[in-house]
Amino acid sequence: MSRPHRPKTLILGGSRGIGAALVRKFAGDGGDVVFTYAGAHEAAATLAAETGARAIRVDSADRDALVAAVAAEGPIDILLVNAGTAVIGDPLGLEADAVDNMIDVNVRAPYFAAVEAGRTMPDNGRILIIGSTNGDRIPFAGAAAYAMTKSAMQGMVRGLARDFGPRGITVNSIQPGPVDTDMNPSNGPMADLMHSFMAIGRHAHADEIADYAAFLASPAAAMITGSMQTIDGGFGA
Ligand SMILES: NC(=O)c1ccc[n+]([C@@H]2O[C@H](COP(=O)([O-])OP(=O)(O)OC[C@H]3O[C@@H](n4cnc5c(N)ncnc54)[C@H](OP(=O)(O)O)[C@@H]3O)[C@@H](O)[C@H]2O)c1
Repeated sequence: MSRPHRPKTLILGGSRGIGAALVRKFAGDGGDVVFTYAGAHEAAATLAAETGARAIRVDSADRDALVAAVAAEGPIDILLVNAGTAVIGDPLGLEADAVDNMIDVNVRAPYFAAVEAGRTMPDNGRILIIGSTNGDRIPFAGAAAYAMTKSAMQGMVRGLARDFGPRGITVNSIQPGPVDTDMNPSNGPMADLMHSFMAIGRHAHADEIADYAAFLASPAAAMITGSMQTIDGGFGA
């Protein structure tokens, strides 16, 4: 499979955490990387200066703005959808608007971004969506809505793999377990409980997720599609 010298790579949600590790990895490997962010302007600007990637402010919850940005950046060789939020807590007390926003960012945005990218994506392109092991298993209370978004995304991955497969485009999800980020710090109040469910009882480092994403985006992974690639230290085992 041929691959452009500098594959055009769009990373949704690249300013912090796993997304920032993806920017560093794909830019470091020579990609032509553009990444979006919503609020963390300074972090995005610093990362852009460090890596040579280009940062653009696009709120994934704004469908029209997101689709316009994906179209403007096309054709895209590699789309990585990382932007996500986690609204956790007793479902009887959660704000409905916050849950709706999470559905917009975690489900609607990956779908519309992937479809838009697919319009012009060259043959053998890659679409990778960061899901969660919680799409398969949620062994504690307070995460029903978050888990719902990550499970919903699985159906989209399977379906789009069928839609785009004839062009050699692969569509997969990476499902991390706990990863040390602002969203889920390794010294946070839930850390010990999470580690108790795992075979390897620690948070992953964000670059462990980025390294695996780079493999899935490589020509070597041409036959992996429609799949959930779990990287969770045995959280779901
Ligand atoms: N950390 C974990 O343990 C874990 C485990 C499983 C799955 N995940 C998934 O991995 C992904 C990244 O998580 P993380 O832990 O790295 O989170 P994080 O530290 O909170 O970083 C989230 C990133 O997504 C961006 N983002 C959030 N909402 C956005 C929006 N509406 N529009 C554009 N960008 C947006 C943020 O940009 P701003 O900085 O501008 O806000 C930031 O760059 C999420 O999909 C999450 O569900 C995380």
